[in-house]
Amino acid sequence: MAIALIIQGRDVEALRSGLSDALPGVEIQVWPTLTDLAAIEFVVAWKSPENLLSQLPNLKAICSLGAGVDGILALADLPDVPVCRIVEEDLTRQMCDYVLAQILNFQYQFSAYCRQQHNNQWCEREPVAIKSVAILGVGQIGHQVAMDLYSRGYQVTGWSNSPKPDRVYSCVFGIEALAETVANADCVISLLPATKETDNLFNRNFFQQMQSHALFINVGRGNSVVEEDLYQALQHGVIQSACLDVFKTEPLPQEHPFWGLPNLVITPHIAAVTRQQNIISQIVEHYKKLQSGQTLNYIVDRDKGY
Ligand code: GLV
Repeated sequence: MAIALIIQGRDVEALRSGLSDALPGVEIQVWPTLTDLAAIEFVVAWKSPENLLSQLPNLKAICSLGAGVDGILALADLPDVPVCRIVEEDLTRQMCDYVLAQILNFQYQFSAYCRQQHNNQWCEREPVAIKSVAILGVGQIGHQVAMDLYSRGYQVTGWSNSPKPDRVYSCVFGIEALAETVANADCVISLLPATKETDNLFNRNFFQQMQSHALFINVGRGNSVVEEDLYQALQHGVIQSACLDVFKTEPLPQEHPFWGLPNLVITPHIAAVTRQQNIISQIVEHYKKLQSGQTLNYIVDRDKGY
């Protein structure tokens, strides 16, 4: 039973050698030089090309290299096998750090100080108050982000698709609760996955519901933002500032108007990046479970899309 790493845009040597060491004797094939398609039973995938997974006659399961599975679920030829995602402490920690860093950057206006420094300008700025934070998407990672901010004294409201009982921060759910959640927040953070329901959720109407002094952070997926509407909202002061790590098209095209906005922080989808050495034990566990016919961990619900 061979494992295939079908991963585009990343050097997979750390993962390949880590798996070879942990699973001696198991064949690890690496795309694009897959040597024996019939031997492959388990795939670790990221940005897998179309029309490849369906050519693996003995495929039993697929694991995403990251927390998101949208790229895999979007494949037209996705075989009917379990798809799981990575759930991992370091990935979650990175996301908590990223979100906190962006909130603090906004609060203490570090971006503005950077611009001032370029102009040899010494000028104190009043910190911006952020007290209430709305987190849209309080699943595995969103919950930890919520807990992190809650423990730092922010007033946190978690918004999700389904009820989340037993959380220490306040939680609401369902589309009817979205407008009020957003209207009460100094900072709105999306960790929502790409699904049919989240497509273009953040539109003109949504930004108008936010407070004009508020910050919008998107570390979920780019599908949820109507980019033209966010551009207008930032340009015309409907909201004060935004920070985007994900976009409809990545890399963000050179000519995209977002680049020119001084009140928008852009990062190239780096909020939480899987460090390959951290996931070897999880992949090994998947492999061993597959071999012994057990159900894998963290299987996603294809209908829900996460
Ligand atoms: C990153 O976007 C991930 O899905 O892990």
